[in-house]
Amino acid sequence: MTSGRPGGSQPGRPVRVLVLDHTGELGGAELALVRLLEVLGPDVDVRVLLFSDGPLVSRLRAAGAVVEVLPLDPGTASTSRSALGRAGLAQLVSLARLVPFTWRLSRRVRALRPDVVHTTSLKADVLGVVPARVARAALVWHVHDRIADDYLPAPVARAFRWASTRFPREVVVNSQATASTLPGRSTVAYPGFAADQVRTDGRPSAGRSPVVGMVGRISPTKGQLELVRAARGVLDEHPDATFRVVGAPSFGAQEYAEQVRAEALRLGVAERVVWAGFVVDPSAELDGFDVCVHASPVPEPFGQVVVEAMVREVPVVATRAGGVVEILAGTPGDPAPLGELVEPGDVESLARGISAVLADPEAAADRARRAADVAQDRFAATRTAEVVSEVWRRAARPAR
Ligand code: GLC
Repeated sequence: MTSGRPGGSQPGRPVRVLVLDHTGELGGAELALVRLLEVLGPDVDVRVLLFSDGPLVSRLRAAGAVVEVLPLDPGTASTSRSALGRAGLAQLVSLARLVPFTWRLSRRVRALRPDVVHTTSLKADVLGVVPARVARAALVWHVHDRIADDYLPAPVARAFRWASTRFPREVVVNSQATASTLPGRSTVAYPGFAADQVRTDGRPSAGRSPVVGMVGRISPTKGQLELVRAARGVLDEHPDATFRVVGAPSFGAQEYAEQVRAEALRLGVAERVVWAGFVVDPSAELDGFDVCVHASPVPEPFGQVVVEAMVREVPVVATRAGGVVEILAGTPGDPAPLGELVEPGDVESLARGISAVLADPEAAADRARRAADVAQDRFAATRTAEVVSEVWRRAARPAR
């Protein structure tokens, strides 16, 4: 293999990219990374360095990536987004511990001689700045979070917005919604679905009690509480409906999960709610749903599960906010949305949306088939790979 020259790639050899992520867990951004790496072309040579071990390592290797782990202090790797702002002084003190890590990381990055350092989480974005500079590689930030005060602590969002115009050479975002929270120029690369996620045999028409499902981490930002509250209104109209909640609490949301269960009991809907737990591949779960609900009360940066439901022809009811509005947007020829949009945080609107889908399964199935066609065109992982590879090529060109 040709050796890399820091500061710019050589024509004719693949662009060398080093991806940095702080976590080895399978969050949304990490699943998007796996699907991207699965379909990259030979014009890029990608390696991944994670700051902690976890199930992501084997998923990335299965996608053909070379992966290594350089462990960061476990405390820092697991700090949640909201805790980032809260901790204040204690956080500052612990920041001192990042100095030796940054030094180790810089040495490793320099030894790997990448043309591009591509960071895929807020922590990796920040921790990648010095190593990329030391290695004279172009820094690309891949932002999967809305950098807004309803999503991040205000001082963190402000600092991040400022840094985004100063440090990375290119910024990739997962939606227009995320782009609109940043002050500078960015490139939208919608996270893509993998070819094997698509349902190709058509959905059988339902002839049993309706299943209202939701897939996602159990967290206040995903809206399981709103779903359980809406269940009351839906059951008044469709008494045989069941509600299937797929996912597990993470990032300290255990208390929230208990609150949701208590609310289901209080409203007398507990026996109609099934807690299915975490599944690695939600396709089989989605196939059993008559409607897939995305109930985030705060704007979701993108919302991959909505696309996953669409490519399996499952009717979608989702809150009108963030990236989900782009996902469900109609086409110029037929601008009607591809799913039922309801108002964020509004339990009655959610119940009405779900009931409307259950009341007319034929119409819902027609719309879901149209949604599947549009999603297959708009959100294929190969398309994401083209956009991101082009950003890498641009970033790797020698600075003029
Ligand atoms: C993050 C965002 C989510 C998005 C995913 C992939 O997990 O919270 O909205 O779908 O990244 O970009």
